[in-house]
Amino acid sequence: MTTAKLTLDGGNYEFPTFSGTENELAIDCRKLRGETTAITYDPGYGNTGSCKSAITFIDGEKGILRYRGYPIEDLVGRVRFSAVAYLLIHGELPDTAQLAGWRNDLTKNSLIHESMLKFFDHFPVTAHPMNILASMISSMSSFYPYDSEQEEHINLNIIRLIGQVKTLAAFSYKKSVGQPFMYPRSEYTYAANFLHMMFAEPTETYSVPKVLEDALDALLILHADHEQNCSTSTVRMVGSSQANLYACLSAGVNALWGPLHGGANQEVLEMLQRIQADGGDYKKYVAKAKDKDDPFRLMGFGHRVYKNFDPRAIVLRQKAEQVLNELGINDPLLDIAKNLEEIALKDSYFVERNLYPNVDFYSGIIYRAMGIPTEMFTVLFAIGRMPGWIAHWLEMRSDPDNRIHRPRQIYIGQPERHLP
Ligand code: ACO
Repeated sequence: MTTAKLTLDGGNYEFPTFSGTENELAIDCRKLRGETTAITYDPGYGNTGSCKSAITFIDGEKGILRYRGYPIEDLVGRVRFSAVAYLLIHGELPDTAQLAGWRNDLTKNSLIHESMLKFFDHFPVTAHPMNILASMISSMSSFYPYDSEQEEHINLNIIRLIGQVKTLAAFSYKKSVGQPFMYPRSEYTYAANFLHMMFAEPTETYSVPKVLEDALDALLILHADHEQNCSTSTVRMVGSSQANLYACLSAGVNALWGPLHGGANQEVLEMLQRIQADGGDYKKYVAKAKDKDDPFRLMGFGHRVYKNFDPRAIVLRQKAEQVLNELGINDPLLDIAKNLEEIALKDSYFVERNLYPNVDFYSGIIYRAMGIPTEMFTVLFAIGRMPGWIAHWLEMRSDPDNRIHRPRQIYIGQPERHLP
């Protein structure tokens, strides 16, 4: 095993290193402070590995994303989201019997507690659905308390969460448009059930369009996990205190809501609409994004990890074309998006900083074509990410290296002083 050598204030220190499956190298600096009294300073944790994980592999330089070893390009269109959720949580794709049982469990547990229905009445009509979702998930811990030592209790609550998150999301939409709630149906796939609950009405016959079901299924798969991003790290951080599963996932939803994270998909569409309303002058917005005195950023561009391209964006770019073609939609926002992409990919500002379109850039276009309101975009991200968060929560609990998360700081405030 190689060691990393550190010389500090005349002292020499050695730290062990280790590699992951794909040869990513880590310096194990757990003894750093104890031996040297120094700490690492890494705001945003861009150089910090907070755990070992067997769930998802990303190579940001090569644009690779794999779940449990499977490239996302292999999974989309070949297996459904519910099978991917099983893969992330259980480590392997389900066989036919396992998948049937898993789907059955998810459907049986997709009805929310009837008492929780009343909560919807008391949110203001202006409430953001992400806020409703986070609050509802948090309150599930009152309705479904569990014994954290009992594996079957944990498993049931995991199923409840994945089963009910789409119901909560669709109900918050129905509430916002003043329509009656539509209950989930056992014959539908996960994606189709969500679309049914969103768009069906009791007075009409509604059959879920296949093109929408397939597009949503792909979107959910592509959002299902992304290793130690902000919301997943939040779930692990909260979970490290042994807080209950619902509290951890509610925190994850709130972290995802931020515009620099999952909230970016809503911001992308609002940005495209702003450009359209401004006469479609996308070049002006590229210039604004490059202007250091202007806080404006091109939403949907750039990524902390992907410095080549975001493989999810590649899949979604094709999906966006397919969905718009099949639905016969000619969306001027897609033209603006393509123009932005083209100009940014050639512009030295974006090229030098490795700023490429990310997953949020195209997802908003597809959601819009599907008739999903802008405020629901980040909610759909949360539905997709639920199995990933849960897989990380489970992995953290069984990791012998896990300790309560407690970073250090360098204090730069006042030195000791006293009242006169
Ligand atoms: N538009 C214009 N300039 C940008 C953009 C952008 N979208 N993103 C980064 N930059 C510039 C920064 O100004 C900085 O320039 P400088 O070196 O001259 O100071 C440089 O690129 C590096 O940017 P950082 O903010 O340091 O990169 P970081 O890795 O911290 O941030 C992030 C990544 C948050 C995604 C950023 O690129 C961003 O704000 N993008 C827009 C929001 C977005 O699309 N978020 C979704 C991310 S994907 C997801 O969460 C699913």
